Amino acid sequence: MANKVWDLEKFKQTAREAAAEGIVLLKNDKNALPFAKGTKIAVFGRSQMNYYKSGTGSGGMVNVDYVVGIYEALEKSEHVSVNKNVRKAYEKFVSENPFDHGVGWAAEPWFQKEMPLDDELVKKASKESDAAVFIIGRTAGEDQDNKNEQGSFLLTDEEIASLKKVCKAFDRTIVLLNVGNIIDMKWVNEINPEAVLYVWQGGQEGGNAVLDVLCGDVNPSGKLSDTIAADIYDYPSTEFFGSDTRNYQVEDVYVGYRYFETFDKESVLYPFGFGLSYTSFGIETDGFKYDKKDGVKVDALVTNKGDVPGKEVVQVYVEAPQGILGKPARVLCGFAKTDVLKPSESQKISFDIPKYWMASYDDGGVTGNKSAYVLEDGDYKIFVGSDVRSAELAGEFSIAKTEAVYQCEEAYAPVQAFDRLLPVFDGNGYLKVFEDAPTRTLDPNKKRKDRLPKAEKYTGDKGYKLKDVEEGKVTMEKFIAQLSDEDLCAMVRGEGMCSPKVTAGIAGAFGGVTDKLSGFGIPVAGCSDGPSGIRMDCGTHAFSLPNGTCLACSFNEEINERLFSYEALDLRRHRIDALLGPGMNIHRSPLNGRNFEYFSEDPLLTGKLVSAQLRGMHKYDVTGVIKHFAGNTQELNRHNVNNIVSERALREIYLKGFEIAVREGGARAIMSTYGPVNGIWTASSYDLLTTILRNEWGYDGIVMTDWWAMGNDEAGAPGSYQNVSSQVRAQNDLNMVNTSAELNSGGDDLMDALEKGRLSRAELARSAANILRFLLKTPVYRHMLGEESELDKELKGAVSADEASLKDTIKVILADTEASLDVEKIKIEKGSSTVFGVTCLQKCFIDLELVMKADNQPDVAQLPLSIFQDKELVKTITLTGMDKEWKNYRITLIPAFMNNFFLKFYFAQGGIAIKSAKLIKTQEIVDDSKKGITELTD
Ligand code: BGC
Repeated sequence: MANKVWDLEKFKQTAREAAAEGIVLLKNDKNALPFAKGTKIAVFGRSQMNYYKSGTGSGGMVNVDYVVGIYEALEKSEHVSVNKNVRKAYEKFVSENPFDHGVGWAAEPWFQKEMPLDDELVKKASKESDAAVFIIGRTAGEDQDNKNEQGSFLLTDEEIASLKKVCKAFDRTIVLLNVGNIIDMKWVNEINPEAVLYVWQGGQEGGNAVLDVLCGDVNPSGKLSDTIAADIYDYPSTEFFGSDTRNYQVEDVYVGYRYFETFDKESVLYPFGFGLSYTSFGIETDGFKYDKKDGVKVDALVTNKGDVPGKEVVQVYVEAPQGILGKPARVLCGFAKTDVLKPSESQKISFDIPKYWMASYDDGGVTGNKSAYVLEDGDYKIFVGSDVRSAELAGEFSIAKTEAVYQCEEAYAPVQAFDRLLPVFDGNGYLKVFEDAPTRTLDPNKKRKDRLPKAEKYTGDKGYKLKDVEEGKVTMEKFIAQLSDEDLCAMVRGEGMCSPKVTAGIAGAFGGVTDKLSGFGIPVAGCSDGPSGIRMDCGTHAFSLPNGTCLACSFNEEINERLFSYEALDLRRHRIDALLGPGMNIHRSPLNGRNFEYFSEDPLLTGKLVSAQLRGMHKYDVTGVIKHFAGNTQELNRHNVNNIVSERALREIYLKGFEIAVREGGARAIMSTYGPVNGIWTASSYDLLTTILRNEWGYDGIVMTDWWAMGNDEAGAPGSYQNVSSQVRAQNDLNMVNTSAELNSGGDDLMDALEKGRLSRAELARSAANILRFLLKTPVYRHMLGEESELDKELKGAVSADEASLKDTIKVILADTEASLDVEKIKIEKGSSTVFGVTCLQKCFIDLELVMKADNQPDVAQLPLSIFQDKELVKTITLTGMDKEWKNYRITLIPAFMNNFFLKFYFAQGGIAIKSAKLIKTQEIVDDSKKGITELTD
């Protein structure tokens, strides 16, 4: 078809390119790589049998058509040949030691048992092959952190023993780390393999990307998005990581390289921004200018000084004077990747660095500019280079008198006193001194009361539809005035998981979730995990992307934007309006279990690349729900752990990436975190979601909670799942997720809060307006109006018939003990499927009762009816032609733990008649998990 937009082959190619761009070459002694054509390789390491395309949990559950692992890619390649004997040994080992999936959610072990290596096998292989490739794998995931233990952050004894044997026997050993984020690297010096590469978790095309780099079709250009220190205890966060009650962020703004470059250069094995190439580059400063208004303009000239083409990343850092505030010795304030440069070719790259990027936040007012970004007086040095350590001085400027660059308002400051790190220069270097972190002086509840919004009075239905707002026939305020309090409460309740109102198997639905709301012409939008592709729990396939860390290490905005424009088409193809991602929390510690989804220890790198991904998605009118806003730095007890952090660190480190995504990336959907920061659950923080996000950054999109999140009323007050009024007051517009918005299945306090004055109608109306403005930009809104673009027409053909059938689901609610299925709607012809989307208001055990007979069939006829629940086949009932009388068939379904499921009837043959079909609740499951309150430990 001419002008085809959806092109799976191009998507694959782009994903392969992106995954290759993120691969970081840490070591390449004796030019071990790239492999010459014809190289014979032996592939070691158990992970060759189970390539990790991503981590686990919500960020990894993408069902795919295929995955190209590293071994598979090498085996298929004509450039190299693989040793089959070695492979056979692993196949045998894995058949005896199968992959351990663990049981249930977040239970998959981070590593799989390594195969002990037989000396003979290694010796023989080293004679038969030119080089060894050793693959080490780790998964990662939600609800569990990495541990400073073997099999997690550390290599296991078995891995070390096998790796040693291989390195000893082979002249060339290449170690590939198929991991979510950085791991301990002490073993590199000890075992000394010739080459080491972080290949991360590269999505379904990841193996091909590795092949491209190993064979030199792609010259590696990935750079570390985190500092690799010698030991986990070198990281300043380690001491204050992993408490199940409170995390004091004592290291303050000195996260990652900001800490190491200031206090502890010696402990760094591989600096932030580091990564080798098969060629070498020269980076020279080619112009430097400081302007009082616009900040710094610096030009870099990059030249390929080696023999093969390649790309280089130029990084710009600032060193601000220590002043009174104290400053990290380096802060990234610009980066860019070159095009592919041929040998001797040069490229000039210009950076404009506004003063704001070089300024520091004065949370205590010590410079006389409380709650402002300031440039303290003194000398500012700008460094340009290819990593934080080797970047060289490019120019300097001086500020004569401390300047306030941007005035803010104190917000989300800690209420608890604690010490934070401050560098003090002693003539040789920086000493670690501690000072009191400034505490809160402004009460967010007072701010809220002083700034309550106003709303039009309730008018009842005046006949306006949402379209009238779009067409300017009525204002948003007057449109919302038609909605009753109950309607408004229902609107802020998102539904899920797997709501039948949206694409099958996705996480959430929001907007016109009740009949009354949809009667006003409000569509129901759908959102799905994210970030590594679309997760559809009913088994529908989608495309799986490289993980966040891999994409971050590309340091390449263009490839991120391009990749996510394809992702946008995948979303459109599946009729999903928003992806729950990218995840953009800061890698405060290498031990955070969810680092694989997140990008970096640096907020500028994170913010710029996330903005690029958003631009890609916005190209086709879908968006990303950037998450988790903010301060989710560990997985352990993430619903409850109180993160205690200074306002300066929040603003300079933990919020900065989000700020860039809002200001530059045009973000219009955000997910708050599960847990509290400075005593207030983020979902109910007025300061976070209103003072900073909306008033300061000018955000006008939606904020949704993470899936079942708490709220509380003030710092230190207990949190509860029912306290949704606190969330709406803060402008967390959507409480995710409820089984039924209409029936308030989550038992929230909204109506009570309205009656008792804890919440105003105007606040509810304000969140409704945020949601409606968002919905007006969604594809589902246009579909609801019956519009079908050329793109829609093209994408319609890009889903399988089975997936398409899920779009016409018939909705059924099991509220009491029984619910009938409309048998008239069940298609009974040969090969037909009918899908019911069932919502059970309580978690329960259910039977399906069918009254059926053979419809005028010869006695010998075989008439199978298969009943699937989500993707599971529950039962195939085969009637014969002799079943001429109506008969009762009762089947026990899988218990409805998640409230929503799909029931599919598939007739492999026609000839069955159905008289009635009903769902019968046989037993309720008592669920107290979302009840009660959680006390904060102060
Ligand atoms: C995760 C979110 C995810 C949501 C929906 C939560 O457990 O923290 O990142 O988007 O589930 O699956």
